[in-house]
Amino acid sequence: MCGIVAYLGNAQAKEILLSGLARLEYRGYDSAGLAVMQETAGAGAVVEPSGEQSNEAKRRRTSSGHRISVVKRAGKVSDQSAACSTDNSAGTLGIAHTRWATHGPPNDKNAHPHISHDGLLAVVHNGIVENFTSLRAELQRKGYVMRSDTDTELIAHLITDVRKAKWMPLEEAVRQALSQVTGAFGLAVIAADEPDLLIGARRGSPLILGIGADEYILASDASAVVERTKQVSYLNDGEMVVIHRTEGYQIKTLENVKLIREVQLLELSLQEIQKGSYKHFMLKEIMEQPEVLQNCMRGRLLPDEGVIKMAGIEQHLPRILAARRLIVVACGTSWHAGLVGEYLIETLARVPVEVEYASEFRYRRPILGKDDVFIAISQSGETADTLAALQLAKQKGCLCLGVVNTVGSSISRETDGGIYLHAGPEIGVASTKAFTAQVLTLTMLALKLAGERGELSPDELKAKLHACSRLPNLVRRVLETQSQVVQMARTYRYASNFLYLGRGFSFPVALEGALKLKEISYIHAEGYPAAEMKHGPIALIDAFMPVVVIAPRSDTNYMKLLSNIEEVLARNGSVIAITDEGNCDLDDKCDFVIKMPEVEEFLVPLLAGDCL
Ligand code: BG6
Repeated sequence: MCGIVAYLGNAQAKEILLSGLARLEYRGYDSAGLAVMQETAGAGAVVEPSGEQSNEAKRRRTSSGHRISVVKRAGKVSDQSAACSTDNSAGTLGIAHTRWATHGPPNDKNAHPHISHDGLLAVVHNGIVENFTSLRAELQRKGYVMRSDTDTELIAHLITDVRKAKWMPLEEAVRQALSQVTGAFGLAVIAADEPDLLIGARRGSPLILGIGADEYILASDASAVVERTKQVSYLNDGEMVVIHRTEGYQIKTLENVKLIREVQLLELSLQEIQKGSYKHFMLKEIMEQPEVLQNCMRGRLLPDEGVIKMAGIEQHLPRILAARRLIVVACGTSWHAGLVGEYLIETLARVPVEVEYASEFRYRRPILGKDDVFIAISQSGETADTLAALQLAKQKGCLCLGVVNTVGSSISRETDGGIYLHAGPEIGVASTKAFTAQVLTLTMLALKLAGERGELSPDELKAKLHACSRLPNLVRRVLETQSQVVQMARTYRYASNFLYLGRGFSFPVALEGALKLKEISYIHAEGYPAAEMKHGPIALIDAFMPVVVIAPRSDTNYMKLLSNIEEVLARNGSVIAITDEGNCDLDDKCDFVIKMPEVEEFLVPLLAGDCL
C-alpha cells in the first residue's frame, strides 16, 4: 500500500514529485519523502563512506559534481511540502515515496528514500524483501551499518556492495543486486555518480512509465502520471526500465534482454482523480455508484432483446460453457464480490464455482487443469497475490479471465480475456464503487451463462435484464438514506464491536460490511452467515453489541432471519435491520431500520451493499 513517483526531465523535480505524492497519498500515508539530484560545486556524495571503497568508487564519488538531497519524515505529504519549502533541493531528477509501514514503525528514519551508506545512491521501494533477515545479517557482517529497520535500506546497500566488489555501471549493479532479492519489489534508484540516469524495476509491484515532452515520470500508479502525460508504457514483472536524460529509455528484462514495448494512451482524466466538492474520495465514490452501474451495463445489457454482450469473453464462451468449474480468485473486497458471484452463478446458471483467497491459493498446490476456467477479480489489477495466482493458473493451462477495473493493469494484460468494470478510478483506500461494479459484472455473467445454458427461458432472462436496468435509479434511492446513516454513526460512535449477519446472497455482503467498518472506522467487526450466530458468536451479544442484519423479504430464508433477530433481541442486542421499503415487520423491534427498494433476491447484494 505504498506509492512511488520519480521524475527525470527539464522541470524542477521537487514540485512534480510533491504533487505526485499527493495523488498517491491514498495508497499509504504514515510517512513520505523525496530525494533530488543536485549539482554541487565540489564533492559528490553527502555522507562519508564507511568500509572499504574501490579507487574507482572514490574517484566517481568525488568527481561527480552531484549530491543527493533527501527530505523525509513521518506524517502526511503536506508535512513534506512544508519541509521542502525550507529546503533548497533544486534539480531535475528525483524519486519520492509515500509509505504504509511494513518493516519498522512509521518514523523519520524508516521513511523512504533510503540512501546507501556512502550517500551515493537513493532507493524507493514498494513490496517486501522476504530474505530480509539473511541479507541484513550478511551486509552487517560486511560492515554495513543499518540506519533504519526497513528492508528497502538493504537494497541500497546491496547495490553499493555489488559495485564495490568490481566497479560497474549503476544499471548492471541494480540488476545484480536484485538477483539476490527474494520477494516483491517495485523500485526506483538514482545515483550521484550517474546524475542523468533513473532506473526502475519491478517484480510483483506495479510500475508505469509516463513519457512526456522531454521528460519521464515513473510511478506505481497512473494517477501520479496523468497530470504530466497520457502516453504510458507498462512494465511487466521481471522487467526494468533504464531512463537516460539524453539517450531516452529502454525497457529490458532483469536478465538484460532488450524489449520493445508499445506506448499506450492512458484512459484517465485529471478530473476523475479529483475530489470535487466532496469531503473525501470515499464519499465521492459511494455517491458515484448509480453512474458506475450505468457505465458497467452500457452497451452490454440489452433487456428488450434478452441479450448480454461481453466482448472480452465472447470468443471464450464455448470453453467457459464446457468448463468443469469456475475458480474465482481475489483478495479483500474483491474476494467478497467473488463470493456473491459464486452464489449467483451456481444458483442462476448451475455452473460449479469455487472462490479462493489468492494468498492461500498460490501457495497450496491447487489442483488445476485445462478444463478449469480461472477468474481473477481485482479493482487495481495489480494485487500481487492475485497476479501470482493468475500466473500459476496460466502455467497449468486454465483459461484465465479477469474482472478488473484498471485498464491496462497487469492482470488485465496477463489474462486471456475478461470484463472491465468501467467504474472509473477508485482513489479511496476502501473499495466501494468497485465492489458494486464487481457484483453487477458477476450478476451479468451469471445471467449470460444461465441464458446460454437454458437455465433461464428467454422471457425469464428478459425480465431479469429489465430488473438490472432499473438498478441505477434504485441505488439513487438507497443513497437518499444518508442522513439516517449519519444519525446511526452518531449513536454507535463509541461501540467497539459490531456483528454483521446475512444469509444466501447477502452473506458475503455482511462480510464486506464488517470489513468496511474495520478498515475505515477502526472498529472491530465480524461478518457471519446469520444461522452460524448460534454456534458461538451469540455468546458475545449484549447491549453493547450492535448487530446489522440484512433481512429483505425477498430472501428465501426471511422467516429464519426474523428468528435470528429475535435471538439478538433476547440478549438485549441492538439491531440495525436492512430491509425493503414495504416491510413494517421490523419497525418496532429494531433500533434502526434502513429501507431499500424491493427487488428480487438476486439483486439484493447490489442494494444492500450500498447501505453498509
Ligand atoms: C486491499 C484493499 O489492500 O486490497 C481492499 O484495502 C481491496 O479494499 C484489496 O479489496 C484487493 O485489491 P484489488 O485491487 O485486487 O481489488
